[in-house]
Amino acid sequence: MAVKTIRWDNHNHVVMLDQRLLPTKEIYRVYRDYEAVAQAIRDMVVRGAPAIGVAAAMGVALGAVGVKDKNFDREVERIFRTMAKTRPTAVNLFWALERMRRVYAEKRSQGIETVKQMLKNEALKIYHEDIAANRQLGKHGAKLLGASTHIMTHCNAGALATAGYGTALGVIRAMKETGKNVEVLANETRPFLQGARLTAWELKKDKIPVTIVTDGMAGYLMQKGKVDAVVVGADRIAANGDVANKIGTYLIAVLAKRHNIPFYVAAPTSTIDPKCSSGAEIPIEQRDPREVSHIFGRAITPRGVQVLNPAFDVTDHDLVSAIITEKGVITPPFSQNIRAYVPHA
Ligand code: MRU
Repeated sequence: MAVKTIRWDNHNHVVMLDQRLLPTKEIYRVYRDYEAVAQAIRDMVVRGAPAIGVAAAMGVALGAVGVKDKNFDREVERIFRTMAKTRPTAVNLFWALERMRRVYAEKRSQGIETVKQMLKNEALKIYHEDIAANRQLGKHGAKLLGASTHIMTHCNAGALATAGYGTALGVIRAMKETGKNVEVLANETRPFLQGARLTAWELKKDKIPVTIVTDGMAGYLMQKGKVDAVVVGADRIAANGDVANKIGTYLIAVLAKRHNIPFYVAAPTSTIDPKCSSGAEIPIEQRDPREVSHIFGRAITPRGVQVLNPAFDVTDHDLVSAIITEKGVITPPFSQNIRAYVPHA
């Protein structure tokens, strides 16, 4: 797919597709300072766990490149802290920042110009590795899902949510590449509409058949035998296999279990957080209630009524059939098997 979610340009700027405006407008924005990148992550110009990891890494590199020699270390520390405060749930962001910190610590003694260059190189490495991981996990997933045709997905775990190719949609793309028939049922994904706006947009571009349904229609479709498998992405996977993903994922997983439909999670191993022993330890982002009470600036709830907006939920590991990673497919029991894929889990 020709669309580039995020890239580093020749002038040392970060360029990102403004996902808030899709599917009606395709606008690329140029970011010249790290604070603007941090704001773009918070505002969801860029979103999706691997993509915000890449954005945070590029933000650090952009910030470091722009710092004058005076107070260099203090300024770089400020950049790391700003990036870490953008969004709390997707662990890829913290994983990417940790990699950048490691490079900083290792190369700092070689001088400011070297460390700036090395931070830039590391951000680009994270970017390229993400695309490679998605292609690899796509292949594993395509094998696993061989017999399935009608696949339900939730949110957007596609090229837009990653450096490219996608995780859940990477599996679907890989199936298509191997000549398999695949039809996607994409849940709209209230309130930010990642399914209706983004998943539909990128699948349509790739000529992969997609049908949009509202989140509440999932049970009906499963009951009618219209879903062969569910594939979703993840924002953070705990060491026991509990999965934090877009709000509503848990609902779909429970329904899939009820109907004996396999429920797969596709994610690079950078999404596995060995420090969280279970999903209860995963911080869940609470976003502005206006995302729920308003649609395109227009109120849809009575004034003054209370509104909640948790952005993610946790799907218990016993509802997950398998986790598809770039290193292979992890099957239950997850607390035992994840350890072979992620050290210290
Ligand atoms: O709030 P978002 O749009 O950043 O949430 C995105 C998701 O929940 C995705 O499913 C997840 O990050 C996986 S993306 C490959």
